[in-house]
Amino acid sequence: MTVIATDGTKHQRVVSGMRSTGRLHLGNYHGALKNWIKLQYKYDCFFFAADWHALTTHYEKTLGIKNSTLNMIHDWLSAGLDPNACKLFIQSGVPEHAELHLLLSMIAPLGWLERVPTYKDQKIKLKEKDLLTYGFLGYSVLQSADVLLYKASYVPVGEDQVPHIELTRALARRFNYLYGKEHDVIDVAEVAVSKMGKKNTRLFYNLLKTYHKTGNIEFLKKGRALLSTQAHLSIDKLERLYGFLDERGKIILPEPKPLLTCRSKFPGLDGRKMSKSYNNTIGLTESAESVEKKIKTMPTDPARVRRTDPGEPLKCPVWSFHEIYSTRKVQDWVQVGCRSVSIGCLDCKGELLVGILSEQKPVLERAVEYQNNPSAVRIIVQQGIEKARDVAKNTLSEVRSAMGISYR
Ligand code: TRP
Ligand code: SF4
Repeated sequence: MTVIATDGTKHQRVVSGMRSTGRLHLGNYHGALKNWIKLQYKYDCFFFAADWHALTTHYEKTLGIKNSTLNMIHDWLSAGLDPNACKLFIQSGVPEHAELHLLLSMIAPLGWLERVPTYKDQKIKLKEKDLLTYGFLGYSVLQSADVLLYKASYVPVGEDQVPHIELTRALARRFNYLYGKEHDVIDVAEVAVSKMGKKNTRLFYNLLKTYHKTGNIEFLKKGRALLSTQAHLSIDKLERLYGFLDERGKIILPEPKPLLTCRSKFPGLDGRKMSKSYNNTIGLTESAESVEKKIKTMPTDPARVRRTDPGEPLKCPVWSFHEIYSTRKVQDWVQVGCRSVSIGCLDCKGELLVGILSEQKPVLERAVEYQNNPSAVRIIVQQGIEKARDVAKNTLSEVRSAMGISYR
């Protein structure tokens, strides 16, 4: 059932993307996805698989990207993203992302891009990969295009992505500054003014001239008042004329704000951050038997060798999971029982398993449903692409006309 927010935020847009990484694990779920699921009922949400972003670092082996993208979207749906509540699509299905990326690249100073922290870090981390490519440097411009294309108010991201949103804001500001003064507005102004009759026209230009000479805002206000009495001017035209009069640029691309995702470090089976590269993950749609096996073989506090040795939950990876999955009551039971040896690690893990499996149950049920109906996923994505494109096309036609390269 779709519950629409009643506090008037559903018209505000939220945009976020996830690089195509294939099947998701619980870290991805708790880090980003759960938040998306909540946001979809509150805002007008656009969520997409960033398959072009995956290309920026994996251009040599592109064969896996398609399956990674589809598997990831399958997991989104299983987790509870609802295609009736949000737009859910694939980046490369909306080629407008590429066009806006190109146009923004023209005004993106190299220095801004080279200073992006993720760019500097990744270049060092992945140095065996030869990332001295044009596409990799442009990663954050592509991300800016992703967001500005939908005129997002908010972008849910982790801490590491905040500099990308800062760059997005800076590019939007630069764009508005450069192109916000519309090319045809002077013509519009002259035509509009000429329709006011000789006397008013003369008065208007005098007011404008005095304003520019003196800087006294009162003259500007009088000019505006004169315009506003002209019934033949639409509100839209008036707004543009006002912008022209006080030389304030029109905002074509609004600046988005980051919405910080709280939990960024989800623990893995070995106590380190959960990550595919550490091989310490539990899959979001992993079978109950497999989850059980992984929990049972999880390391515990090394001091608890025998059942009779007391342990310390704070030194145990199992406890980090209890903090996320267990009720207060179970947590107290673990704390007391572990230290006083009244419970064993198997009891402790058994309770944890109950918590994990009960959260995973509806996810697994949806996963099976979609697994048995692969065409449903294809249709959902196709419809999402269409809805996203409608918005994207509008933005681009505004962008083209602001830049003076609209040939319609
Ligand atoms: N760069 C993001 C990441 O690695 C993914 C991403 C691509 C994104 N485009 C976006 C996130 C637009 C937010 C908005 O996690
Ligand atoms: Fe870890 Fe629980 Fe064993 Fe204590 S009882 S060491 S918290 S698994």
